[in-house]
Amino acid sequence: MGRKVTKAVFPVAGLGTRFLPATKSIPKEIMTLVDRPLIQYAIDEARAAGIKEFIFVTSRGKGALEDYFDHAPELETSLRKRGKDELLDTLKNTNMESGAIAYIRQHKALGLGHAVWCARRLISPNEPFAVILPDDVIAAETPCLQQMVEAYDKLGGSMVAAMEVPPAQASAYGVLDVRDDMGSIVSVNGMVEKPKPDAAPSNLAVIGRYILAPKVLNNLNRLKSGAGGEIQLTDAIAAEIAEGRDVFGYRFRGQRFDCGSKAGFLQATVAFGLAREELQDEFLDYLKQMVTLQKAAQ
Ligand code: UTP
Repeated sequence: MGRKVTKAVFPVAGLGTRFLPATKSIPKEIMTLVDRPLIQYAIDEARAAGIKEFIFVTSRGKGALEDYFDHAPELETSLRKRGKDELLDTLKNTNMESGAIAYIRQHKALGLGHAVWCARRLISPNEPFAVILPDDVIAAETPCLQQMVEAYDKLGGSMVAAMEVPPAQASAYGVLDVRDDMGSIVSVNGMVEKPKPDAAPSNLAVIGRYILAPKVLNNLNRLKSGAGGEIQLTDAIAAEIAEGRDVFGYRFRGQRFDCGSKAGFLQATVAFGLAREELQDEFLDYLKQMVTLQKAAQ
């Protein structure tokens, strides 16, 4: 039913203050889980979902991101000479076809909604598009965006990834006001960004994967700043519902790590480290020792 989704916007213009001083000189999205930067996980997920064009909304100091997707001729020649074919293959995944990737600047960090709006001229008026926040890393058998694209093909409208959270944590997220709960899909009456404790309409929180109808960009045109003084994407999606268009929440299968926070990043490092066959045994032994030592010290 929905038109094919082939473009994705990656808003990466945030200041990343929770990771200062590291983010003084490296973009948050270049920080690595095991040996791959966050942005690589996001790109792999987008490719698996059929995305062909990648739009990065960047800001000052994000040059390392642009270099990451470029060829590295000297490095490649040196690896070839040394017969390091496996490493050359690893590098291939980081290269982007010429013209497949576009960079747009957000001149001021005015919020996620504003960052997405900055990409408006690269998206045509009848074209749905995905939005991926690279600091939400999702471990899943079927990559999260692919699950959503499959559901979107049947439903159309706009769709946000949704995850159950304990009520005490709901005020840190955009929260869905659920109309009809159909299991993996919920239809939505409204959305509230960072509701006050006790005012959350449900425990279904929105996380960083979206498939959006192009009209959301028009809604962003009209928005003034919302919660926290930022231009909120959630408000622009909620405006879709107010205008009678469908918005769905999608309960994805998988585990989401909030790699924009220190605790989440460390948890992801442990989970992805343990998932690597070549590291598993040594790393697990170490973690067991650490837990034993910690318990003994208590
Ligand atoms: P965050 O809320 O995590 O903000 O943004 P941040 O600036 O990256 O990090 P902290 O809170 O200072 O530590 C969520 C996503 O939205 C993007 C960020 O890059 C991140 O991917 N974003 C946020 C923008 O692109 N522009 C903005 O103005 C704000």
